[in-house]
Amino acid sequence: MDNTSKNRNKKEDEGLYNIPLPLPKNSSLLKQNVKEVPGNAATGTVSSVMCLLSIKATGHNYVRKMMRRYNSTVFRMNFFGTRITVCDDEGMQSLFTEHLVKKEPRFGSLVVNRKVYRGLIPFEYTNGYDHDQKRDFMVDYLHCVKKDWDTQYLLLTVDEEFRTIGDRLLQNDDFEDVLSNAMCNIISRSLLGCCLDYSQVRIWFQHVLVPVFKLDKWDSKPGVDATEHLAKEIEESPIGIMLMSKGKKHEFSKNEILMELLAMVLFNAHRSNSGAVISAMIYLQQLTEEQLNLLKTEATKLLNGKCSINSLVHIENFLMEILRLHPPAKSIFGIATQNFTMESQCGFFSVKEGELLCGDLYWTLRNPKVFVDPDTFVFDRFTKMPELKKYMCAFGGNYYDNIKSFHKCIGQHFSMTLLKMCICHLMFCEYEPSCEPKWTGRKITRIPASDKPFTVHTFEYRRETSGPRGARAPVDINEFLVETEVETFDYESEDGSM
Ligand code: HEM
Repeated sequence: MDNTSKNRNKKEDEGLYNIPLPLPKNSSLLKQNVKEVPGNAATGTVSSVMCLLSIKATGHNYVRKMMRRYNSTVFRMNFFGTRITVCDDEGMQSLFTEHLVKKEPRFGSLVVNRKVYRGLIPFEYTNGYDHDQKRDFMVDYLHCVKKDWDTQYLLLTVDEEFRTIGDRLLQNDDFEDVLSNAMCNIISRSLLGCCLDYSQVRIWFQHVLVPVFKLDKWDSKPGVDATEHLAKEIEESPIGIMLMSKGKKHEFSKNEILMELLAMVLFNAHRSNSGAVISAMIYLQQLTEEQLNLLKTEATKLLNGKCSINSLVHIENFLMEILRLHPPAKSIFGIATQNFTMESQCGFFSVKEGELLCGDLYWTLRNPKVFVDPDTFVFDRFTKMPELKKYMCAFGGNYYDNIKSFHKCIGQHFSMTLLKMCICHLMFCEYEPSCEPKWTGRKITRIPASDKPFTVHTFEYRRETSGPRGARAPVDINEFLVETEVETFDYESEDGSM
């Protein structure tokens, strides 16, 4: 797998591995160096449709073509309006700077179907006071459940759900759907203390985010009914009841709490983590015996209670490389709130108030100036160069950014913990893929690391467990119910990550 060390040494010798120094911050020099963003500034429908068709045909590769055409990691593209697309992490910082950029109430060409979302919009698409209040509330809640994931609860839940996959596969040969069902159970049990009805979850996903041009004619009834069903499940769950009571003190309505929980558990947590587990399964198949042994040794120690989740060095670095090559969230969107100068790897660019922006996480994580042989999977990339972790923007922003920074993912710690545990359990699973997965970069909306759905003939979980069965509902919620000051929390975990 790691067949790139020769090239890497060569590139290191040539200095290509060095990240370029930032341009001088002296203001007169800055003014002299500011450039117009290159690219297509046309706003017409024809230009937009052409761009859409090219993206449909070539996916991520279209963005790479544009980067090459303009010889720049920052350029304009007409994708439902002219957008400044940013493909390097220096430029990306602007998208996470609160006074420069705000969120649009949509996700590129997709909008939240407010009928399904009961007239609201998830806080991640809002700005200012409303966003900050709800975000703080959820961060506060996640912090309280955190200590439970770090202990036995999550381990037992993953164990129990992974054991059911083989049987479910006998009734449903769509493996991605079966895995997604198991992940939905794990996540809803961990975050809500109840198992959401997966048949309704499927329907909810089909209706909650819809293409902007189809919204008017969309038949939302099935989505509205699914919301009804799922909201009732959360409302009746022990955690739902307590969260609504806590929310009342913050003047959030019952509806707001229910919808935010639905969005967080399903929209944010479920899809991305399910996709990442499938990517991990695909790459596990390609590892050498030696690499597998490194992972299995760590997994055995964790599952036998002999080490903590923070000491899984090889598993964490393997996961990092997967999230780098296949970030579950590929892009982030925003709108400039003032004229400003964007500092990027390719120079200073002038951005005008009101301009639309798109941070391309996929290409930022494949930036050759930061990651040598960026398209190649390198098992020990992050083991050899742990400092590269700070360029891991798969969760938005910098990996080590404080959790309270503007719009950065609040589920990074949960996901890293959950995914590491899933990889530990996968070390004891045997599965036979039906065909060899292939990734060409053409499928811009696919989360897992294969163009086509990943399918397996069989899936067997072979670990003997001696520990207790029947995972209990998480968290001693009393701590959360006590009025807590969000500001006083220290979100750093033992190893410095969130
Ligand atoms: C592998 C898993 C995950 C990945 C790759 C991921 C990635 C991201 C990214 C890139 C953003 C920024 C989006 C933007 O600015 O448009 C984000 C935001 C967010 N994520 Fe995650 N996420 C993951 C899992 C989770 C989980 C497990 C939760 C909840 C438990 C979560 C909750 C959120 C929320 C609420 C936001 C919005 C934050 C805000 O706007 O203030 N995510 N995530």
